[in-house]
Amino acid sequence: KHTKQVYSGIQPTSIPHLGNYFGAIKQWVDIQNKQRPHQSNPLIISIVDLHAITMPKDPRLLNDYIYKCAATLLSCGIDPERTILYKQSQVAYHGQLSWILGCRVTLPQLSRMHQYKTKSDGLSEVPLGLFTYPVLQAADILLFRGTHVPIGEDQLQHLELCRSIAEKFNNAYGIDFFPRPVPIESEFTRLKSLRDPAKKMSKSDPDAGSRIELVDPADIIEKKIRKSVTDSMRLISYDPKGRPGLSTLIDLEAACTDLLPEEIAERCLLQATDKAEYKKHVSKVLVEHLRPIQAKYSRLIDDKKYLNSILDDGARRANSIAENNFRQICKIVGC
Ligand code: ADP
Ligand code: NA
Repeated sequence: KHTKQVYSGIQPTSIPHLGNYFGAIKQWVDIQNKQRPHQSNPLIISIVDLHAITMPKDPRLLNDYIYKCAATLLSCGIDPERTILYKQSQVAYHGQLSWILGCRVTLPQLSRMHQYKTKSDGLSEVPLGLFTYPVLQAADILLFRGTHVPIGEDQLQHLELCRSIAEKFNNAYGIDFFPRPVPIESEFTRLKSLRDPAKKMSKSDPDAGSRIELVDPADIIEKKIRKSVTDSMRLISYDPKGRPGLSTLIDLEAACTDLLPEEIAERCLLQATDKAEYKKHVSKVLVEHLRPIQAKYSRLIDDKKYLNSILDDGARRANSIAENNFRQICKIVGC
């Protein structure tokens, strides 16, 4: 009934790492590349800078990361001709819709959010934005009447809240205006931290050795892989439960090639490859895989004028959709 609209966002809080790349960005690029050219409801990706300031951020760093994030996405294959790539703060309707939707949410509903509980735990003063974050997120998606949201499992609860808000709004006004957006979950295995395979690779880990960023130079990649925590067995086998550290390295090679992890382990066994040799091999595969992305990134990152032109054009297109939807929302509400 509702036209399919895929919508996703990324926080400009650091350079995306391999987990973000294989777990999210590559999926966006696949979705984009399956679209018809000039389709009227293209993939929409927002660089969500308003979400990024939920916790205090140095303005210069934030601004830097917005450009780095845009350059990274473009380098990974996001094509501004086929995808609307824009910066959240350039579309003022996000804040306006967030207010309207916030009037349909209760305090207990927001208090139940796991992310809020985790992030507010231990803070002596909790910023209101941390509490209302999921409302802004719902507004992001619903402003574009998003139906499908590629999302990590940690965000499923927020998306469920978004559905409930959409439903409440629709029921209150007796109109089926907002879709109830569903997640598109990535099939990709969650990459583990290179320093502690019990944790996931994450940009919020203070130890940068735990993740490989998309723009890490070759020698840093080699060092991080060489120092990655595995186990005491010498040879290679794929066993994500029993040997999570080593299996993460195999997952990385599999993600860069057509090979399945089991095929890689079999090859290593046939060749009696030991762990030190295998780590060198994985570094080489990664460096090769990231080379074209990094080459494109280094061309783009210093071209602020080009990046601004992409973001401005994305904002123009996003605004035109948002304006049309918001006008209808106001009419429904009676504003
Ligand atoms: P981070 O934990 O690094 O801050 P986010 O929570 O911003 O990452 O997630 C952005 C996207 O990247 C989500 O779709 C999430 O599922 C994906 N992602 C994050 N970490 C990993 C990982 N270690 N392995 C696979 N995908 C990941
Ligand atoms: Na593969």
